[in-house]
Amino acid sequence: MAHFGDFQFQFYGQGLAGFVSDLPFTFAELERRAEEALPDGVFGYVRGGAGDEHTQDVNVSALRQYGFVPRMLRDRSARSMKAEFLGRTFDSPVFLCPVGVLGAVHPRGDLETAAAARELDAPVVFSTLSSATLEEVAAERGSAFGVFQLYPSSDRELNASLVARAERAGFDAIAVTVDTGTLGWRPRDLANGYLPMLQGHCIANYLADPRFLEIAGVKSAEELAPQRAGLVWASIFAHPSFSWDDIDWLRAQTKLPIMVKGLCDPRDVRLATEHGVDAVLYSNHGGRQANGGLAAIHGLAAAVEAAGETPVLFDSGVRDGVDVLRAVALGAKMVGIGRPYVYGLALAGRRGVEHVVRCLLAEADLTMAVNCYLSLEELSAQRA
Ligand code: FNR
Repeated sequence: MAHFGDFQFQFYGQGLAGFVSDLPFTFAELERRAEEALPDGVFGYVRGGAGDEHTQDVNVSALRQYGFVPRMLRDRSARSMKAEFLGRTFDSPVFLCPVGVLGAVHPRGDLETAAAARELDAPVVFSTLSSATLEEVAAERGSAFGVFQLYPSSDRELNASLVARAERAGFDAIAVTVDTGTLGWRPRDLANGYLPMLQGHCIANYLADPRFLEIAGVKSAEELAPQRAGLVWASIFAHPSFSWDDIDWLRAQTKLPIMVKGLCDPRDVRLATEHGVDAVLYSNHGGRQANGGLAAIHGLAAAVEAAGETPVLFDSGVRDGVDVLRAVALGAKMVGIGRPYVYGLALAGRRGVEHVVRCLLAEADLTMAVNCYLSLEELSAQRA
């Protein structure tokens, strides 16, 4: 029986043949190499968080406070990381988070990520902010489970248009991000004066949308100079008054399952279930939005309890395969990867994304094997 952990033998095999991997195996090394590879503004945008980055840092360190008591002398030859979500069975609980600057990190960043997801058959969430259109990434991800992430703009017609396009393009679900009613305070980006969208980058979904062109007062995107496009985008991007009524409105716009991304408080999670959402993405946006929040992982178990039957996904601070297992053990149905795969993309495009995800899956699988845990259910049962 093949396991994700078998990936490691490829590198021992290479060693026998006299060469070693050109891509790193730890997050620290990935980050260091990405810093060398990327322009300062782009690296700062990916690496950076809100304020003094305390929340971002504790997201990572808090995960390490959780561990596993190893079991022994159990046959682990038939272990699996299969995860069930929205009626589908996935080979692992790992999904790729929406990241809005993939096109600044790599010239074909969104498409390379989509191709990696296709190759890995991993669920992937595509940001509203991309350099390829949602139609293009939907096609490129093949049969991988694809989610369109909506940043609700202040223009309802534009939101309706984006959702309708996502449904037509064949996405499997919509994730609406609710923690970005305004951009957070991000000192690294302020110091670099860098917000790619203002330069007209990573707004392909808007430029391809008839409603956005109408708002801009033009007939085609060619009539818009990049900076003018960036300014029109800035005038509608955020929707500070977006609230639960808008979730009901969104529910009525589409037959696709809806997830709400960016909830942490159990009261909000409960409200989400009352408003009929299909899943909750528990996330503090990797510490990029509000500083001073608690480490994401600390509230996960309470949120899972508040959600009842509604599945809860988790992201924020996951750096390796053991973190994936930690989040599962605390009740996450699926676990999202953010910065690690973006650094892989920076180093080697699609191959880099695949490498990072395969390393993470291998480490998770081998950790389960060494500790004699045979399924994700056994891990989450450990919590009880
Ligand atoms: C993000 N994230 C994000 N989330 C979202 O809903 N839409 C988006 O466009 C973006 N864009 C974005 C850009 C960059 C550079 C990063 C690092 C993150 C948040 C992302 O989906 C996820 O919540 C975090 O990345 C998780 O934190 P870690 O694991 O990266 O620390």
